[in-house]
Amino acid sequence: MIDHEQLRRAAAILRAGGLVALPTETVYGLGANALDPAAVERIFAAKGRPKQSPIIVHVVSIEMARGLAKEWPDVAQKLAEAFWPGPLTLVVAKNPIVPDIVTAGLPTVGLRWPAHPVAQALIAEAGIPIAAPSANRFTELSPTSAGHVRTSLGSSVELILDGGPCEVGLESTVVSVAGAPLLLRPGMISRRDLERVAGVSFSSAESPVEGAPHRSPGLHLRHYSPRTRVVIAGNTLPDGRGAYLWTRRELPGARSVRMPADPSEFARILYETFHDLDVLGLDWIAVEPLPESSEWEAIRDRIARASH
Ligand code: TXA
Ligand code: MG
Repeated sequence: MIDHEQLRRAAAILRAGGLVALPTETVYGLGANALDPAAVERIFAAKGRPKQSPIIVHVVSIEMARGLAKEWPDVAQKLAEAFWPGPLTLVVAKNPIVPDIVTAGLPTVGLRWPAHPVAQALIAEAGIPIAAPSANRFTELSPTSAGHVRTSLGSSVELILDGGPCEVGLESTVVSVAGAPLLLRPGMISRRDLERVAGVSFSSAESPVEGAPHRSPGLHLRHYSPRTRVVIAGNTLPDGRGAYLWTRRELPGARSVRMPADPSEFARILYETFHDLDVLGLDWIAVEPLPESSEWEAIRDRIARASH
């Protein structure tokens, strides 16, 4: 499955300060050498991303993560042992070797050991930590296939590694363990999973006030949205042409999209479904209200943002 020739090329591009799009189990990332400020600068340019958004740094071991942290609290160790490699980002106090541009000037850094074999092989081959935000232009929907990356960023990235469709399909859970435990962005590792392992509760980061500095810029409202208007619909659908994503009850008056009743399966195909519907030029995409339980929290979060 891994093309070693391509992998060596990708690693060489990264070491030379270039950009490579890489598959992870959550979404595709736009990667650069995390220790090279000029390379990271290129990520911001390619995405059209504001400089106050910090970027997650990807590693291939707990040891490598600890080398980028100034402090590594017990709770970080517990969470890393339980959930890495996997869709969890740990925000910890940063080691000064991490350039300020990566962390948007924050004294903390977000670290993640991804589960995708191609991401792991690339970090190991390059021998450097890889800074990578989702490989989409700013405010667009995250890519869950190599084709999505090509459509959004095709001309501004030297190489796109194709690792197939992403299995998780939503961005990682982001938690801060630099102080009191904080859930910065819900993900498919649920609050319940985190609390069970850490033995502490995680408070939620409230959405930032417009114009104020972002504690976690992933919490921008109007992130994670398709171009088509998204609405949450209980009993009736809007006028015009649209699609209705449902799991329990179909409604007349729309293109019917039956979604999986299992949250992991739902998450896996959600962005792909949005990407596919977005090209149809519909007036709206409506989504059935989702269950209130913990394992749906990340999906509810992304749909709420998309519908904002
Ligand atoms: O699943 C993922 O996390 C994907 C793949 C590529 O790993 N990456 C991703 O990156 O979603 P991005 O840049 O689209 O979102 C990263 C989010 C930021 O928006 C911010 O909320 C949070 O991670 N973050 C990163 N570093 C942080 C820090 N030092 N303090 C607070 N939040 C941070
Ligand atoms: Mg993103």
